[in-house]
Amino acid sequence: MCGIVGYIGRQPCTPILVEGLKRLEYRGYDSAGVAVVEAGGVRVVRSVGKLAALEEKLRGTELKGTVGVGHTRWATHGRPSEENAHPHAAGEVVVVHNGIIENYLELRGELSAAGHEFLSETDTEVIPHLIQRFLRDGADLEEALRQTIARLDGSYAVAVVSAADPDRLLAARRASPLVVGLGEGETFVASDIPAVLGHTRRFIFLEDGDLAVCTREGVRITHADQGPVDREVHVVQWTPAMAEKGGYKHFMQKEIFEQPRALADTLSGRLGAGRAAVHLDGGDQADEIARRIGRLHIVACGTSYHAGLVGKYWIEGIARVPVEVSLASEFRYQDPILGPETGLLLISQSGETADTLAALAEGREKGAPILSICNVVGSSIPRASDAVLYTHAGPEIGVASTKAFTTQLATLYLLALHMGAARGRLSAEDLAERIEAVRAVPGAVERSLESDPHIETVARSIMDATSSLFLGRGLQFPIALEGALKLKEISYIHAEGYAAGEMKHGPIALVDEDLPVVALSPQGATYEKMRSNIQEVRARRGRVIAVASESDAEIADHAESVLRVPDFDPELLPIVSVVPLQLLAYHTAVLKGTDVDQPRNLAKSVTVE
Ligand code: M6R
Repeated sequence: MCGIVGYIGRQPCTPILVEGLKRLEYRGYDSAGVAVVEAGGVRVVRSVGKLAALEEKLRGTELKGTVGVGHTRWATHGRPSEENAHPHAAGEVVVVHNGIIENYLELRGELSAAGHEFLSETDTEVIPHLIQRFLRDGADLEEALRQTIARLDGSYAVAVVSAADPDRLLAARRASPLVVGLGEGETFVASDIPAVLGHTRRFIFLEDGDLAVCTREGVRITHADQGPVDREVHVVQWTPAMAEKGGYKHFMQKEIFEQPRALADTLSGRLGAGRAAVHLDGGDQADEIARRIGRLHIVACGTSYHAGLVGKYWIEGIARVPVEVSLASEFRYQDPILGPETGLLLISQSGETADTLAALAEGREKGAPILSICNVVGSSIPRASDAVLYTHAGPEIGVASTKAFTTQLATLYLLALHMGAARGRLSAEDLAERIEAVRAVPGAVERSLESDPHIETVARSIMDATSSLFLGRGLQFPIALEGALKLKEISYIHAEGYAAGEMKHGPIALVDEDLPVVALSPQGATYEKMRSNIQEVRARRGRVIAVASESDAEIADHAESVLRVPDFDPELLPIVSVVPLQLLAYHTAVLKGTDVDQPRNLAKSVTVE
């Protein structure tokens, strides 16, 4: 997904822009560029491919300016090419843009008829041309940008510089994230905090409709409807080191191993000391929604959707509140039945997923109380929700979601306990017992990480497979789906997650001596049934990789390999049993030499529908 960095200060900006873009690489991109305000005009340098190609081009230039913008592009309109890469210019005006301008064809026609010449296939290029037109009509840069964004349909985060106005950096947003970073004698804009975290920790999150005029001294913000506004300055606690690899080979690996700490942070302050209580830490409105609603509709994408599937088991089982779970991309086509009695629970690591945001809008229109579970503080979904439960996992950079998933699960479990207690479905004794069990989760995850070296050898045994099957039942079924998603997205081995009981209704036809079948069969209510499924696979010479409890001595006789998980409360085991599957996917991808943190065709934050 595209990334934006902008700088106005006293230092040459090119290294700051390039470093910022590097920190946004995880978002995925296919081309990149920078624009720097120089004495003779704005100089634009762009290239296709990785940032190294851009750096190579910049080596031959003498860019010294102290105001500029940079961009990494993930193509939506027009192929990845140098002409389509940002920044885009019209005369002295230069723009970088994230999002999609839905009425760009109409605007392009209008501008072309007025003599404007377009050099790219992008929707973005209409923006500098519109600004240029309003400048010619007599507006100053700020007013020209204001008039421009009033003409745009769709989503945008833009940063603008102009040779004719060299001491200002302008930014505006609607439905695409943008922050302003405040430094000493310098101001930054960025689509994502890590881009400029090495320079400042003080951030303003721009709201939809905001237009920011940045100077070396600070920022002035006006809102399209409200006029001048004061936005809160947030001091972000993440250190630059937290956003880096910290000694691990990949961000994904670091994030897998961070899970015990991340889970402890999720639980921190939420489990009542000395008495049986769970505090959601989402404000009064979160408590109110959890207590009042008669039904819950969970909506999310990808890994977050899998967390929602586990959440359904817990909330229905513990609180006896009916739960439906939908993929955000399908939600609006279902004409969902929502209203004040049906809570909408959105789950999103990034808080910026376009499909999930669209589901939120649908829920808002239909009057549902809206709760979200999110990792990124101040992102769009929490800000548009009535209440938010933060997962506190810290920045997740690897495209493959890991610690975000397990912390989402922990948060969902706390929500289930809170709802169960509030509705009198859990006795104080039951609640206290479950609280003790959840306290033990970080330790159990820590223990399952100890199998890492063994899992690497198992990964070696499946790395040449072209296809694989992941089977689970009950609470372990969503974990089978998640294990398959992890393997396919980073190792590119086809992987299907299936409810084990469904195997005989179709997928069993795939089983032969080449097919690895990962069977989630830890101790618990579905253990015996899973054992039967394992036998069915073995009878057809399939290769069984069992995820099994430490105490299960027998399983080794029935499987080619065993991935061990500690003996643990079956209700909470999904948070633990997913860990060996994350490691299996990770090692398989590393052995195959794929781009683990930025798998092909994928982006961390999917901000287009
Ligand atoms: O930021 P979100 O949780 O809303 O993202 C949802 C999905 O795009 C995400 O989980 C995706 O499936 C990951 N690549 C899975 O590892």
